[in-house]
Amino acid sequence: MMRSDEASSRRDLMAYDAVAKFFHWLVVVLIAAQFVIGWTMPDIHKDTRPDGLIAWHLGVGATLIAVVVLRIVWRFTHRPTPAALSPVLSVVSHITHGLLYVALVVVPVLGWANASSRGWSVRLLGLLPYPAIAQTGSPTGHAMGDIHGVLAWVLFALIALHVAAALFHRFVLRDRIVQRMLP
Ligand code: HEM
Ligand code: HEM
Repeated sequence: MMRSDEASSRRDLMAYDAVAKFFHWLVVVLIAAQFVIGWTMPDIHKDTRPDGLIAWHLGVGATLIAVVVLRIVWRFTHRPTPAALSPVLSVVSHITHGLLYVALVVVPVLGWANASSRGWSVRLLGLLPYPAIAQTGSPTGHAMGDIHGVLAWVLFALIALHVAAALFHRFVLRDRIVQRMLP
């Protein structure tokens, strides 16, 4: 018979399938790029053109939106095996993961609405245009740009908490939680 720690180790390694792991790490790379570009691109004014770094932010953003949608569909159709956590940690991790998913949808959609309100087209891989989700010149779409910048910080804080939790599991609790998301 398999020893219980071997069994739990095996279960953790199989917790997320290869596609879920691929989506997780692809989103990490795309978000890192969005923060770097978002913070270094020039300030945007009324007559700014969506060129250079701004075009990159919209292009990477369009890819991110598509990947997040696919990731969420995959998540609903392929549930991971639950982690062996205490009830408190289980609730805290579910809340954090839930908020991360909410932020992964809300932050990009607000950026998209702001782009639409500026009359900028958002295209997947430079080809497939997404519909405009705010009217050109709409004050709401404009305000959404400001909220986008603020909520990007909230997303940043959630990611910091999430990474701190991963390090805590790896180096303090010394369990196999981090293995669950590794190849
Ligand atoms: C999670 C993904 C994203 C992150 C982390 C992010 C981050 C940022 C950051 C840090 C800024 C600068 C805010 C400031 O200086 O106040 C910004 C601005 C902007 N982002 Fe994003 N962004 C993301 C996704 C998107 C997407 C998907 C789009 C559109 C397709 C987009 C469009 C914009 C626009 C138009 C601005 C200028 C807003 C303004 O100044 O009014 N962003 N973003
Ligand atoms: C942009 C940064 C990140 C975002 C948005 C993010 C988002 C998420 C989300 C939403 C989940 C829940 C998965 C699900 O149950 O469907 C998750 C799980 C996980 N993430 Fe991240 N993550 C990020 C970065 C990282 C980093 C840098 C690490 C490692 C240091 C990491 C390690 C993990 C692990 C180990 C899990 C599995 C937790 C479990 O279910 O036991 N993540 N991540």
